[in-house]
Amino acid sequence: VPQKNHSLKEGCQLAARFYHHLLMHTEQGREAYNYARSARNVSEEAMRHFQIGFAPSEREVLSLLFKKREFDLSEMEEADLVQRREDGRGPFDRFNRRLIFPIWDMGGQPIAFGGRALDEAPSAKYLNSRETPIFKKNEVLYAYHLARPAIRKRKFVVLFEGYMDVVSAWMAGVDNGVATLGTALTGKQAQLIRRLSDQVTICYDGDSPGEKAAIQNAETLEANGCNVKIAPIPADRDPDDYIREQGARAFMENMIEGAVSVLSFKMNAYKKDKNLQRAGDRKEYIEWVLEALAKISSPVEREFYLKQLSDEFSISLEALKQEQYRMYQRVR
Ligand code: GTP
Ligand code: MN
Ligand code: MN
Ligand code: MN
Ligand code: MN
Repeated sequence: VPQKNHSLKEGCQLAARFYHHLLMHTEQGREAYNYARSARNVSEEAMRHFQIGFAPSEREVLSLLFKKREFDLSEMEEADLVQRREDGRGPFDRFNRRLIFPIWDMGGQPIAFGGRALDEAPSAKYLNSRETPIFKKNEVLYAYHLARPAIRKRKFVVLFEGYMDVVSAWMAGVDNGVATLGTALTGKQAQLIRRLSDQVTICYDGDSPGEKAAIQNAETLEANGCNVKIAPIPADRDPDDYIREQGARAFMENMIEGAVSVLSFKMNAYKKDKNLQRAGDRKEYIEWVLEALAKISSPVEREFYLKQLSDEFSISLEALKQEQYRMYQRVR
């Protein structure tokens, strides 16, 4: 049988349309639709906007479609949409029984997929496409092309950790959100953001990995010329949880408008690890803040944090300034 030489992107395009159709319009997709709609609160409008789909339990659904449409299956394997069996028998689908999030290139072409398990536990919660000739994970941001017009209009970017956070935020009216794909932000991704706006609000999970990643990515963004703030997501919640529990308005006011400077965020993170009732920890903390302040070029901003320290520990501004001077002398 002669096979037409469809490109990897055409394969991804077909897969995205097919998976979306299964979720929206078929009996096969009903359980996943109910999961998305009821358990995760995803509106139909959001399902369409993000072209969310469903890869069913049977493992030869997409492969069969590719065969019917005479796609080159070894190319679809290269696109990480199908896999060969170990014993050499026919190929089977890479994704099964997962809610599917297409990942697009900058022009809006699907180039990869993220799949979320419908059930908690057994396998990995998320399965993402491997790197392929058309998908370099470290050079892509989820929903970049969808958020671009809103980023230009609002003049800032919101950076999330996960697909679901971007989707929930969009439903809450935060339409300028993009996400890294579960990894540290690279310089390349920072440049993609910087190209659209130099104002970034990081909105990561409130757990300890999220907190660490927020600080690390803030530094990468700053090194690439961005001005960064960080949303104070409560511990053990993520933006999606927060929106579901507190609502859109609280999210907008407390997390987006209420985002704090990177230094404030770091000060809070530092304090969680210390017991400031203890004199030793307190001294260490104050010295750490004074050291961080030395790197701030704006005198007004420096004074702001000094005042905060002064109020918090009932230490006079004068004493803090003297301490800072003493540290400076020591370094010299
Ligand atoms: P939900 O439980 O669906 O709300 O997940 P989440 O979006 O809150 O996921 P989490 O905070 O655990 O992870 C954030 C992002 O990291 C996800 O959107 C994925 O892109 C990625 N990720 C998480 N878990 C895995 C995993 O097991 N494998 C891979 N490859 N990526 C993951
Ligand atoms: Mn449709
Ligand atoms: Mn997380
Ligand atoms: Mn999360
Ligand atoms: Mn979540």
